Amino acid sequence: TGPELFALERVNARGFDLTHSQTLEALFDARDAFAKHQWQATPLLSASTAADDAPRAVITNPADPSDRVGAVVWATPGDVENAFSNATPWAAPDTERCRILLHAADLLEADYAQLFTLLTREAGKSLPDCVAELREAVDFLRYYANRATDTPPAGIFTCISPWNFPLAIFLGQISAALAAGNAVLAKPAQQTPLIAHRAISLMYEAGVPRGAVQLLPGAGDIGALVTCDARVGGVAFTGSTATALRIRSAMAENCRPGTPLIAETGGLNAMIVDSTALPEQAVQAIVESAFQSAGQRCSALRCLYVQEDIAPEFTKMLVGAMQCLSVADPWHLSTDVGPVIDQAARDGIAQHIAQARAEGRVIAETTAPTTGTFIAPTLISVPGIAALEREIFGPVLHLATFKAHQLDAVIDDINATGYGLTFGLHTRIDDRVQHVCERIAAGNVYINRNQIGAIVGSQPFGGEGLSGTGPKAGGPHYMTRFSQPDRQQVTA
Ligand code: SER
Repeated sequence: TGPELFALERVNARGFDLTHSQTLEALFDARDAFAKHQWQATPLLSASTAADDAPRAVITNPADPSDRVGAVVWATPGDVENAFSNATPWAAPDTERCRILLHAADLLEADYAQLFTLLTREAGKSLPDCVAELREAVDFLRYYANRATDTPPAGIFTCISPWNFPLAIFLGQISAALAAGNAVLAKPAQQTPLIAHRAISLMYEAGVPRGAVQLLPGAGDIGALVTCDARVGGVAFTGSTATALRIRSAMAENCRPGTPLIAETGGLNAMIVDSTALPEQAVQAIVESAFQSAGQRCSALRCLYVQEDIAPEFTKMLVGAMQCLSVADPWHLSTDVGPVIDQAARDGIAQHIAQARAEGRVIAETTAPTTGTFIAPTLISVPGIAALEREIFGPVLHLATFKAHQLDAVIDDINATGYGLTFGLHTRIDDRVQHVCERIAAGNVYINRNQIGAIVGSQPFGGEGLSGTGPKAGGPHYMTRFSQPDRQQVTA
């Protein structure tokens, strides 16, 4: 962290004030303009275009399977080869790359109507989530643009991004790689190719050369081709821990030794609420952390520990708050919890809940629409975090209790999962804050607030252990992995 990094001016995007009725009306009018729009996504390559008669896969809205959002032409192995052959690291001076990426951020902000509609119809995002996601995408672009360097780039950088932040994480990885002067091969999540296609089109419009960023929509087979190749200079991956481990092994066999992998992966995130916590504050923080974005954030709260003395009353309050959540089509402003991303995700989560129900461990279940891939927010009792065998990526919260003298044992159990992404603590004892922060192994620790929604530049985001390799996204060290500072600059 050189002092020059902090000397840079940093301004986060303003977003939209959703409590302002005229702003809201304008947002809904703008979004309505794209309510029936059909988008098309294709590979975006430097030196070829998809054939007109290429087979297309239909993309539908997770909240409403009858709403066809558009269609995608998947990339082929030939497209991947073509992309490798024509990838050209972005040789423009750092000031020029910075200017173009800042322009892309402005174009993105101006395109909010189309992007919000896409985020809702393709990814099931509620309006507040759309606003937060666009803000984060714009923040990443500006943050990395302002750190563009003339240090030698890594070369060809592969960026593989998830469906849960199809704009922000997608563009965060890409803009860091571009600010460092790389050529990017971008493989977006299979569930959200339309958003990715729109975002890259805006990058081209801003002036990013086609050889510097190419889009390869596809599934895991395309992901394997863009990572397992000696021409790859680095990989940025956000997704499951299991996939990150597979990528790491494949890179060890196929890439040059030392090729960097930046992985942001899953979490089994916990929160501890002790008997001194403010219950109203803690309940609101829990509901946001566990159920906002339908629990589909890697940062989301999965296992809540409540001190036994307050547990009965506290659980009643929490269940009351859960029952007030509106689970519905994210198109409506009153919706708190939208759908999960697709039927496969829904089935996996439903199976987890069904098993807990069969074992008599469901404390509370709310209601959800039966059409679309909705899951009703659910509270499940567990003896402790060790009972969670995997990350349940949806609106399901697990509750355990602890006695005051067990606090350190609880922290040991949380650390023993091997994950270390986010952690929350609600207490009014200052010494306890200090003590817990010293013992807990987590990348982002939040005290007396929710544990989601890290802000670029203020709260660099990333985990340790099974949760990721670092460096943290939106922080001063992230860009260092996208260049080769030790490579000799040869000058005439
Ligand atoms: N960065 C997001 C958050 O903080 C998670 O991906 O919630």
